[in-house]
Amino acid sequence: MNKIRLIAVLFFATIIFNACTKQTQKTVVNKTNKEIETPISRKVKTLLKKMTLKDKVGEMTQLSLDMLCVGKPYSIKDPLTFDPVKIKKALLEYRVGSILNNAGHARPPKEWNKIISGIQEVAMQKETGIPVLYGIDAIHGGNYSVGATLYPQQIGLAATWNRSLVKELAAISAYETRACSLPWAFAPVLDVGRDRRWSRFWETFGEDTYLVSEMGRATFEGAQGDDVSDPEKVIACMKHFVGYSMPLTGKDRTSSWLPERQLREYFLPPFQAAVNAGAKTIMINSGDVNGIPGHVNSWLLKDVLRQELGFKGIAVTDWEDIHYLVSRHHVAENYKDAIAMSINAGIDMSMVPLDLDFPRLLKELVEEGKVPMARIDEAVTRILTVKYELGLFKEPTTTKHQYPDFGSKKFRQKALQAALESMTLLKNDKGLLPISKKSKILITGPTAHSLNAMNGSWTGTWQGVDPNWNTKGKLTVLEAMQQEFGKENIDYVPGVAIDTIINIKQAVKAAKSADVAVICIGEFPYVEKPGDIDDLTLPKAQLQLVKEMASTGTPIVLVLIEGRPRIIQEIEPLANSVLMAYLPANEGGIAIARTLSGTNNPSGRLPFTYPKYPNDLVAYDYRGTDKADRYFGHNAIQPQWAFGHGLSYTIVEYSDIAVESKNIAMNGAITVSVLVKNSGTVPITE
Ligand code: BGC
Repeated sequence: MNKIRLIAVLFFATIIFNACTKQTQKTVVNKTNKEIETPISRKVKTLLKKMTLKDKVGEMTQLSLDMLCVGKPYSIKDPLTFDPVKIKKALLEYRVGSILNNAGHARPPKEWNKIISGIQEVAMQKETGIPVLYGIDAIHGGNYSVGATLYPQQIGLAATWNRSLVKELAAISAYETRACSLPWAFAPVLDVGRDRRWSRFWETFGEDTYLVSEMGRATFEGAQGDDVSDPEKVIACMKHFVGYSMPLTGKDRTSSWLPERQLREYFLPPFQAAVNAGAKTIMINSGDVNGIPGHVNSWLLKDVLRQELGFKGIAVTDWEDIHYLVSRHHVAENYKDAIAMSINAGIDMSMVPLDLDFPRLLKELVEEGKVPMARIDEAVTRILTVKYELGLFKEPTTTKHQYPDFGSKKFRQKALQAALESMTLLKNDKGLLPISKKSKILITGPTAHSLNAMNGSWTGTWQGVDPNWNTKGKLTVLEAMQQEFGKENIDYVPGVAIDTIINIKQAVKAAKSADVAVICIGEFPYVEKPGDIDDLTLPKAQLQLVKEMASTGTPIVLVLIEGRPRIIQEIEPLANSVLMAYLPANEGGIAIARTLSGTNNPSGRLPFTYPKYPNDLVAYDYRGTDKADRYFGHNAIQPQWAFGHGLSYTIVEYSDIAVESKNIAMNGAITVSVLVKNSGTVPITE
C-alpha cells in the first residue's frame, strides 16, 4: 500500500490571453530595444550584402526532392537518381535554398546521406556558397528513415501525461533524423485537438491547451536542445499556425470560425510556449480562419506571431499553399498576385514545391515595386540565421559523425515505455482483465494483425498504408499475443476488414470455444484530406462483428486502435472491457499484449473527451449553457468516457484535497495538494 501526497502548483491562467502573450522570448536586446549584434547576425549581414535579388528569392524557395530527380513528381523510381539538368537548374540557376520530402517513401540512413551530400555539393558551388536547408516530416520518430525508432503518435504520447518521456523521445527522433543529414523536422503539431472528426486529430496532443503546451514545449526542448549545431539535434517546426484544428465542417483544410477570445484562450498558448522554448520555424495553416486564409492573414502572421508571441524564426507555407490561394481559396486572381499577397503578409519561405515559377515571379514583383526589398531581406535574414545556427555552412552533412544508437535497443525501449504508458483502460467490468495466462483466447477484428493500423500515417510513406515500408520484425497484436500467452492458446479469425465483412460466421464459431474474445477494432491509416469522414460512428461491419460475437456469451475485450474516437455506444455495453491503444506504433503489439496479461498495469489517461453521440462533441471545459437544460431535457455532456478517464488493475483512492490559500494574485501561483493511496496489491504509476 502506497500513499503519496501529490502537490500541484497551478499558475493562474488569465482568460484574456493578452496579458501573458507579451514578448518573453530570449532575444538579446539593448536599452534602445535594438537587437545586439552576435557573430551569426554579423555573418548574415555580410552575406546578405553580397547577395543578388535572384539569390534572395531562391533562398525563399522550397522544392520537393522530386524536382531534382529523374522521373515525374509523385512517381520517382528506385534507385533515386539525380537528373543533372534539373538539379543544376534548381540549385544553381534558381538558387533554391530549401528541399523537402522523400520522393515517395522512407530511405535508409546511408541513402539519405548520399542524397543530402549530392545536393549540398551542387548547392554550395553557388557564388554565395549557401547550403540547402533540408526539411522532412519526422512525426513519430524518424518515420522516413528505414530502421529508425517509431514511437506512438502524439495523441498516444499525450495519454502518458509524461513530459520528460516526450522530451527523451523527441531527442531520439532528432538524433536519428540528423544521422541522415536531415536537420529540419516538421513537428510537433501544436494545434489543439478540439474537433474529434478531424483527420489529423491523432497528430495533436489532445483537447487541453495546457497539456498541448507542455507536451509541445517538451518536444522542442528534446529536439533542439541548447544548440542546434550539435550533430544530434534538429530544428523543429511549430505546426500549423493557427486555428487549423477546429474546422467548422470537421474536414481537413476547411474554414474555422474562431472568435478572437477563443483563439487566444485555446489555440495561441501552445505556440507561445514553443516560442519561449526557442522554436526556430513555424508552418502556416492551410485553411482559413474567420474567412481569411492563413497564408495572407497579416494580422496573425505579423501582429500576433511576431509582435505578441515574439517569434524570430522562419515562417514556411504548407504544401502548395500559395497556389491554393488561387485554386482553393479564390482570394487571388493569379499565382503572381497570390505570391505578392502572402509574402507581404509575412511568409518567409514557400513550400512551392513542384515548379520554379515562385522565385521567378517573386523577383519580378520586387522589381515592379509590389513586394518591398525590406520584406525580402527580412525573410532571407531569418533563413540564413537558421542555416548558420545549424552549422550548415561548416558541415552541410553529418557524415563525419557516428550514430551508434540509431535504431538501437536502448531507443526501442523508450518507444516501448511510451506505448505501455499510453495504454488507457476505459472499462473493466467484473475484472475480466487481466486475462489469465491459461485462457483460450480468440483474436479477431480488422486491426488485430496490422502494423500499419498501429503506426498510422507518416510511416514509411505519407499515408502509411503500404506494408512494404513497415519495420521488419515488429509484432502485430496477434503476434505479440501469441508470444505473451503461448501460440497454443490463441486462435485468430479476422472477421471483418475496416468496413467490409470477411468471415464473421467463422469468428462466431471460434468464439464459442474460447474463454475470451479480444476484438481489435478501429481505423486504418489516413491523414489530411484522404482522412475526411462523414460519420464518426465506427463502420457498420465492425459494429456487426461485435454484436454477433456478443451473441455467443463469450466475454469480450475491445481493443481500440484508432486515431480519433469512433463512436461505439451501440456496442460498448456488449463488452466487459475496453482498452484504448491510440496509434501505439511499432511496439504497440507488445504493449497491448502485456496490458491484457497484466504484465503492464495501465496508467494512461484520455487526453480528450470520448464522445458517446455524434451530435455531442463537447470538450471537457464546456460552458454551463452546454449542459443545463431545465425545460426540455437535452444535455450534450454525456461522454462515453470523460477527459482524463483511465482505470488500472489496482484501486487508487484520492482524499484530503487542500488548497493552500483562498487568494491568488494575477499571474501568481497556488499550491493544491491531494492524498493518493494505492489500496490494491499491484504497483501503479499514478
Ligand atoms: C502537411 C504538413 C507537412 C507538409 C510537408 C502538408 O501537406 O499539412 O503537416 O509538414 O505537408 O510534408
